[in-house]
Amino acid sequence: MIGVRHISDDLVEDQIGVAQLRAMSSLYIDDVLSIVDRGLENLPSYLDLYRKAVKQAWSPDDLDFSRDKAEWEFLSPETKKRRVWSMRMFFDGEERVAGLLAPFVWAAPNKEVEAFAATQLADEVRHTIFFDRYWREVVGTSAASLDELVEEIGIRPEENKAYSYFFYQWLPELAQHMASHPEDREATVRFVTVYHLVVEGALFLTGMRYQLEGARRWGRTWGYYQGFTAATRDESRHVLFGVRYLRDMLRQDPARFGPVIQTTIQKSLPLIEETMRPPRGDMSYYGGDHLDVAWPGSTPERLREEMIDYAKSSLGRRLGAVGIHMAL
Ligand SMILES: [Fe+2]
Ligand SMILES: [Fe+2]
Repeated sequence: MIGVRHISDDLVEDQIGVAQLRAMSSLYIDDVLSIVDRGLENLPSYLDLYRKAVKQAWSPDDLDFSRDKAEWEFLSPETKKRRVWSMRMFFDGEERVAGLLAPFVWAAPNKEVEAFAATQLADEVRHTIFFDRYWREVVGTSAASLDELVEEIGIRPEENKAYSYFFYQWLPELAQHMASHPEDREATVRFVTVYHLVVEGALFLTGMRYQLEGARRWGRTWGYYQGFTAATRDESRHVLFGVRYLRDMLRQDPARFGPVIQTTIQKSLPLIEETMRPPRGDMSYYGGDHLDVAWPGSTPERLREEMIDYAKSSLGRRLGAVGIHMAL
């Protein structure tokens, strides 16, 4: 899929940067994502990103899910199954990254990084609360607390091994290590490579792009679209932070940090593909009415391949901006 843009390059920063929640209905996701590519050309500082985070803060409580709810009632069981799977991956992922970021705030090598990372922690909690509200008002649940709901929607290892590895094993191990060794700079570099470049950059932003572009083509640009587009704008800041952090560390000591980034990326590459594997290999998760309406002419296999290519090529561009050139 070629990028679908609406706003010209020279206006994108101004228009996306200040857009309020209601205005998110008319935004194209590729315009939001273009901020990452523009940022790579001239990386913002930690405090630039901190100030943006403060200005762009939003509240899930300001969203209106009534149209999402009205549509949900009439969806086919197949469409619901497909959407619930994709949203569980995001909901669980947001909750996990929210819960695992605090050790990085603690291990931050300077106050500017610490300030930005603290805003990011608040962002990830906001994204989790966004899904909590959506689940209660649209999908439906009897879970009494956020803990119970997270337990209910959590991705099980048998559903997707690579996903479980990222969120329930690898990231928690790295976070635990940073918490007990806050002076270990290699540990922060390894953590940011997995968290910001791979999980947020390659997995989240790719999934968000295809989910939101599909939603817009389907015609549902209501509460969910507004909130998740705002979340994508937040994620684009997080990814730019990750690129900036790794570039700064690499410049400081290429021989020390270069190999850490490269080996971490090597280990992640097969996991990126595996994470995009549907439960039990059932490709209908990529198909159905949604495919016919939003991606006419495509097939589930082609859509999945396109997403993997998109994830890898964006990862490659970001690594290039860090100063790492390797074949993906
Ligand atoms: Fe997030
Ligand atoms: Fe994030």
